[in-house]
Amino acid sequence: MLAQASPWYAHALQRTAAGPAEPLAVPARVEWTTRPGSGPGTEILGPDLRRKRVVELGCGPGHNAACLATRHGVHVIGVDLVGLQIRRARSHYGRLNNLTFVAGHALHYLQASDEQFDAIYSVFGAIGLVAPELLLPAIAQRLKPGCTLAFSVPHPQCGNRRPASDDRPGRDFVTLPDSTRLPIARWDFDAERWDKHLTRAGLRLTSAREFHDARTTPTTLLVSACKL
Ligand SMILES: C[S@@+](CC[C@H](N)C(=O)[O-])C[C@H]1O[C@@H](n2cnc3c(N)ncnc32)[C@H](O)[C@@H]1O
Repeated sequence: MLAQASPWYAHALQRTAAGPAEPLAVPARVEWTTRPGSGPGTEILGPDLRRKRVVELGCGPGHNAACLATRHGVHVIGVDLVGLQIRRARSHYGRLNNLTFVAGHALHYLQASDEQFDAIYSVFGAIGLVAPELLLPAIAQRLKPGCTLAFSVPHPQCGNRRPASDDRPGRDFVTLPDSTRLPIARWDFDAERWDKHLTRAGLRLTSAREFHDARTTPTTLLVSACKL
């Protein structure tokens, strides 16, 4: 039954069953990588975001959005494809100020919006899971000039994978809490290919940083770009 459902729905369903429904503490920092404590803080999104409006694409249970809203005074809209994730996010953090959670496809949310945002980000979220030739121009359209897009994706060489040799998605897996692996499509680009797609969309790559686990295996690629 799970294998027929959306992998991200199955993922949310098992996480909901495994995790507490009561409000969770707001994390101390935004985590961009798989190694808590490594990686930059919120400064990557731009200087002084207080009272600015920011969107997270693929927010999951909302911990990073909650941190930005509560500890940095940012108005955050967390978007996730799966309604169950949004329910999880609201049950954990819905009581907090400056925070809105919306269920929907990242691309559809951006296309339906007529707002200009001060930053857009994704932490292993929708960027890399939606065709970049569609999603990046939609992001560029909704970012104010000079403002930042930042996103982390699994490093294209983690787990002995290879970066894509063309612009098509490759096959990856979502691993559920019960260890079931469900196939998904992922655009596994290296920094150079992200740079090409960002430029086409009207964004300029400002940094591409690699992060490793304790054994120096690359795990995370963190990219930031500026709207021209
Ligand atoms: C690996 S989880 C990461 C969640 C969260 N950002 C975190 O750091 O824990 C990926 C999330 O992206 C969401 N997602 C996948 N495709 C999406 C899309 N097209 N639009 C919005 N969210 C999407 C999934 O439902 C899932 O919650």
